[in-house]
Amino acid sequence: MLEVKIHNLQLANPVMTASGTFGYGPEFADFVDLGRLGAIVVKGTTGTRRQGNDYPRMAETPSGMLNAVGLQNVGVEAFCKEIYPTIKDLKTNIIVNVGGSSIDEYCAVAEQVAELDKVPAIELNISCPNVKKGGMGFGTDPQMAAQAVAAVRKVYHKTLIVKLTPNVTSVVDIAKAVEGAGADAVSLINTLLGMAIDVERQRPVLSTITGGLSGPAVKPIAVRMVWQVAHAVGIPVIGLGGISTAADALEFLMAGARAIEVGTANFVDPAVTMKIVDGLEDYCRRHGVADINDIVGIV
Ligand SMILES: Cc1cc2nc3c(=O)[nH]c(=O)nc-3n(C[C@H](O)[C@H](O)[C@H](O)COP(=O)(O)O)c2cc1C
Repeated sequence: MLEVKIHNLQLANPVMTASGTFGYGPEFADFVDLGRLGAIVVKGTTGTRRQGNDYPRMAETPSGMLNAVGLQNVGVEAFCKEIYPTIKDLKTNIIVNVGGSSIDEYCAVAEQVAELDKVPAIELNISCPNVKKGGMGFGTDPQMAAQAVAAVRKVYHKTLIVKLTPNVTSVVDIAKAVEGAGADAVSLINTLLGMAIDVERQRPVLSTITGGLSGPAVKPIAVRMVWQVAHAVGIPVIGLGGISTAADALEFLMAGARAIEVGTANFVDPAVTMKIVDGLEDYCRRHGVADINDIVGIV
């Protein structure tokens, strides 16, 4: 009833976790039956270890949060040697979110991850607003986005998902460019560039001044962008941004997403992904939907 396909990836259901909000998976094992997730997208992984940005790098906002973590991670070598062995036998799809400051770095990470048998896909993050070099820079210009994707496509032959930024005038132009460069799927949205000011201290709340806004506040923007992109490309679309209930997930599916990712909501309720899977099953039963694919893009 809930099975979906993203290129060559067979997902037990459309519910995936969003990078940077679910660790590597086992951190949530007390709350989530990891085998019941469609996929786990692990933390953004770069060529070398990154400390991330200085604190404070998180701020709560109405119906959302700002973060400026800055791709803190152990680096691809430590991921392959130390973390991969601890997650490779999980009964779900493991997808590595690939970050970087240059096309060479994206390719180097993709090449190393390609060697891992139990990682059938990468999600190429050309949309991080919290790194000084690269990151979102690649995702805001159709030509640069296409260049980065074409280079990774040459070295990576499994499923290549490209994650898009909402911080552009036309997300459709970027989506079409990455499709043309060989992406197998797109996921959207990453965070929206935002800022908060501590008026007592008369300075920005975040050490980086600006950060990425996520959570329920961004959902209508994300649904609109998914709907636009789903009408413009032929490859599968994965939707995310502010999903915290099954009804939220259904909005994205009806807008044209084949699968969804849950991000910030994991911090509020670590078991939320299971409630969303249950809620989708319940919806299908109540509405006589035999195959969830039948409602994808129904709007
Ligand atoms: C603390 C935090 C860390 C994140 N780290 C990453 C990351 O490493 N790579 C990435 O592509 N997106 C990252 N994101 C973005 C999320 O994966 C997601 O695109 C965004 O938060 C919107 O979804 P949400 O509203 O459900 O959180 C991060 C988001 C948060 C809140």
